[in-house]
Amino acid sequence: MPVWIVRDPLFGDGGKAKIVDFLTEDPRVSAVVRWQGGDNAGHTMVVNGQKIAVHAIPSGVVRAKERPLLSVMARGMVINPTRVFREIEKLKEKGVEVTPENLLISEGAKLTMSYHMALELARESGVRKKDTTARAISQTYGFHRFYQGVLAGDLRDPDVVRERIRDPLAWANAIISQVYGQEMITEDQVMAEAKEWREKILPFLGNEILVLNQMLRTGQIVLLEGAQSGMLDADLGIYPNTTASNTWPGSIQSGCGVSSHWIERDILVIKAYISRVGQGHLVAEILDQRANIIRERGQEYGTTTGRPRRIGWPDFQIGRYVALISTSQASELAVTKVDVLTGIDLEVCTGYQINGQPIPIFPTTVAELNQCQPILTKAPTWQEDITGLTNFRGLPRGAKDYLELICSPYRYCRLSMIGTGPGREELIVL
Ligand code: IMP
Repeated sequence: MPVWIVRDPLFGDGGKAKIVDFLTEDPRVSAVVRWQGGDNAGHTMVVNGQKIAVHAIPSGVVRAKERPLLSVMARGMVINPTRVFREIEKLKEKGVEVTPENLLISEGAKLTMSYHMALELARESGVRKKDTTARAISQTYGFHRFYQGVLAGDLRDPDVVRERIRDPLAWANAIISQVYGQEMITEDQVMAEAKEWREKILPFLGNEILVLNQMLRTGQIVLLEGAQSGMLDADLGIYPNTTASNTWPGSIQSGCGVSSHWIERDILVIKAYISRVGQGHLVAEILDQRANIIRERGQEYGTTTGRPRRIGWPDFQIGRYVALISTSQASELAVTKVDVLTGIDLEVCTGYQINGQPIPIFPTTVAELNQCQPILTKAPTWQEDITGLTNFRGLPRGAKDYLELICSPYRYCRLSMIGTGPGREELIVL
């Protein structure tokens, strides 16, 4: 059953790319697939001392330098071709060549059009901004959901594009001009952009369902790379401070046409502490100087927007919620950035309480979350520098005890990897 999933169950930025990069060392992995989200993601790897960040393109593209490996941007994704081609240029500058041999873009992926961007930027520059990554992710998914989207495959025929944009452009312009008082986008502008995209994107387009299922039927491993995170899921996250896609494995089947039957490993990547960018609740937020120390040491600034991330203690209320929904024999945990916490007085949040009463499950509404107070308790610590450590026995007792404690809410998930630095090889594999 050769599907492996790598995903972040918390607020993102847990270090998925490093784990994906490590797993693609296995020559049986033939494809790395992004099945949801867009270039709101920021996945960073450090390979031979060089920092490489990808946004819309799967992290596996870096390994394709060393051996044949297909990166797939599947139909569940939203794609802004202008930005994808800019990303390809940036990768080229770092020595990573992206070609139709190593990147497949689904003909079913949803396109982010200039009127989506205009709507997003108008909202994000106003007082009622949502503090998004400003990539028009929700506009693109939203238009698609009310049957007014444009698919990457539509670019093949300019007449289809003209037809597909007619209604949504009129709607978008009504909002752009009447709600935001800004200049409207013309049909000619949109068509000129589509023409420019068409020439570049056609060689990359294909049907990923066919390709991926053929791989699976011949025993090859397909690695599915989650983006954003579990607590940013449009339904299971903290609405409305979520992203617009479904980020849990339940969305894989519709996102890339691969059945859950194939799942062999479901690797949940969490940091040894938590962080969050953008608006929204972080009940176990660290409110003293320790947050600054962790932010600086862990370089907790958004890969996509550069915004400082808020820092929190490991949150068992969320951990138990994640475990409740995720538990299967396939579940594993990878804990990253343990090295960042050396020498710090640590705490964990063992749950939330309202009026002194613990609550049974992670709240659904913001109104309930507003009343929640974290229950904090001291956690084991250690003083020894563990940067770059690659064997478990070398970890100080305090670090081992801390890991055991923070993994405890994720019942049935086996701890399988521990990150001890940003580099490709700074990893303990159990
Ligand atoms: P959007 O996905 O750009 O619409 O942003 C919605 C919310 O999700 C904002 O709070 C973003 O900061 C957050 N967000 C989106 N993508 C990511 C990600 O990849 N990592 C962490 N936060 C993200």
